[in-house]
Amino acid sequence: MSCRFSGTIQSTAAWLGLLPLGLLLCTAHATAATAPVCSDGAAPSPTMFVPRSTPAEMILDVSWFVWAICSLIFVIMASLMLWCIIKYRRSAGDDKEAPQIYGSNPIELAWTVVPTVIVFILFLVSARTIFEIEKTSAPENSLNVTVVGHQWWWEFDYPEQGFVTAGELHIPITRNGKPTSVYLTLESNDVIHSFWVPQLGGKNDVVPNHINHLWLEPNMTGTYVGQCAEYCGTQHANMLITVVVHEEAEWNTWVSNQQNTSIASASASDGHDLFLQTACINCHRVRGTPANGDFAPDLTHLMSRATIGSGVVANTRENLLAWVNDPQDIKPGARMPSMKLTPQEVDQIVDYLLTLK
Ligand code: CUA
Repeated sequence: MSCRFSGTIQSTAAWLGLLPLGLLLCTAHATAATAPVCSDGAAPSPTMFVPRSTPAEMILDVSWFVWAICSLIFVIMASLMLWCIIKYRRSAGDDKEAPQIYGSNPIELAWTVVPTVIVFILFLVSARTIFEIEKTSAPENSLNVTVVGHQWWWEFDYPEQGFVTAGELHIPITRNGKPTSVYLTLESNDVIHSFWVPQLGGKNDVVPNHINHLWLEPNMTGTYVGQCAEYCGTQHANMLITVVVHEEAEWNTWVSNQQNTSIASASASDGHDLFLQTACINCHRVRGTPANGDFAPDLTHLMSRATIGSGVVANTRENLLAWVNDPQDIKPGARMPSMKLTPQEVDQIVDYLLTLK
């Protein structure tokens, strides 16, 4: 509970522009890097104030630097103004006009040169960070993942490992014992989306017919949340991203499971046959079966995911029943229509889906 609380306070303080409080929490953040907000390093809601990846840390450092300079200017200016108001206020019986000064070269030079220098410093510091986090080639030994934005879900393609998944990006914290960068290639299948997991990296647009890149370098395991950050249609707000950062061995196990093709379980053969006879297979893929669509999420290992509908509900039997019956009940506007199946058929298909582990 304390974990949710501190994340919320930090974000709130920041967005209200309560700079002194924000700076105070900056110290708290430095402590948080060694003593995580949550036991696994992840905050319960998207926040850039608890970074767990190199580029996210660089972005936060620049933010604090800019805020520190701005706060200093604010404090100096507000103090001078208060001092003038108090010291030079009109006293009783004093009706004289104060001396009027025009055309002072030293004063005008000072208030032109000082702000210019400050803006130049802020520009240089920001530009340096922007160039460092906008790598256009993959860092050495990085894991490459292609992220494809769809209305309204995310596809994650692991070309080197040879499988495709959806909704949840799983990455290792180290590979062969070394810290691992994850180099994302961002593509869109339809409109402009934006990939943003604030604890792990900056926000980057996902544009049709254009390729962008983003790299992450997680330094703590955990489940990090993010979301599409560019309005992309009805269900934009439910285009959630889950990134699970694993220990190396755990990630290897996850990968080898994803690489398996599906084996139909005898217990769900009715559902299996029904699935292959309906239009499901035009959009969805289940490797090892004739279902080979690529318009909708790959379902080969559906049950290895914690959520369905790009994070909109938990992946439980009950929610799967509701989704297969009519996705529009859960995610109005989603591209998947109700297949008008009978309750018994819905039951059979869900029994089959539950075998896709
Ligand atoms: Cu995709 Cu907003």
